[in-house]
Amino acid sequence: MEHSIESYIKNLVRDVIGQNLCGLQIQSDRQTYVIANWKMNKNLNETAEFFQKINSSHDVSVVICPPTQLLYPAHLLIKQSGKPIGLGGQNVHWVDKGAYTGETSGNMLKGVGCEYVIIGHSERRQYSFEDDELVNKKALHAIKSGLIPIICIGETLGQKNSMQTEQVLSKQLFGALKDIDSSQFILAYEPVWAIGTGQSATAELAQETHAYIRSVLKQILGQKAESISILYGGSANDSNAADYSAMPDIDGVLVGGASLNAHVFDAIINVFAKGEQNS
Ligand code: 13P
Repeated sequence: MEHSIESYIKNLVRDVIGQNLCGLQIQSDRQTYVIANWKMNKNLNETAEFFQKINSSHDVSVVICPPTQLLYPAHLLIKQSGKPIGLGGQNVHWVDKGAYTGETSGNMLKGVGCEYVIIGHSERRQYSFEDDELVNKKALHAIKSGLIPIICIGETLGQKNSMQTEQVLSKQLFGALKDIDSSQFILAYEPVWAIGTGQSATAELAQETHAYIRSVLKQILGQKAESISILYGGSANDSNAADYSAMPDIDGVLVGGASLNAHVFDAIINVFAKGEQNS
């Protein structure tokens, strides 16, 4: 499908779901994000090469989340390049400082140029046994430290197959967002079965789930829910990005594998940038 047609559909859906009231066009003020989660990939040379190759865009917020030891060099490389790229960590501790070997606080991330941090990624939930309570503590700490948390939620294949998706997401949202009254966070819906498998959720399924997530957000935050960006993650790439970008409740993507190649990642950025230009 032509991307311009997709943008037309996106606007049409926005109107139909009530954002065009009494002839008064009320555009969503949600920010669109294209975020790279490099996970445990790349060395210093590969990082330098990536920032040389990537073009980025002023039309969407582009954020790169490299491994912790590459954050400061990445910060310097971004500054040197003059490209509009934000920086994020992949994890954060929940206190400012202390005897916590191997951990990194929010202030430390801020100190090396981060504005964002990923929290509650399913790989950390799986390998480091992070639960909703811990995700909540980390999110509160990140906000207090002046970072924007990118809070990840998502169901496993078993939970999907036993029709528990909504129940799981609702529990994760209420747990992660306890005592958070700010709208200074980003949500990422990452179905665990879609991560690194090549089995991405269809744009229609992702849209349906994002709309459900926004309905739960409304219960928690009221009208502020309308301003929260909800990103899709799970085998997002340059071939399926246009489908996601056409959906009214998908405000960008959190990209793993396909973010490691600067040309591929640029192609994804361009899809969402075009969508913004046309909306
Ligand atoms: P993939 O894009 O490799 O499936 O990873 C998604 C992800 O986990 C981003 O946080």
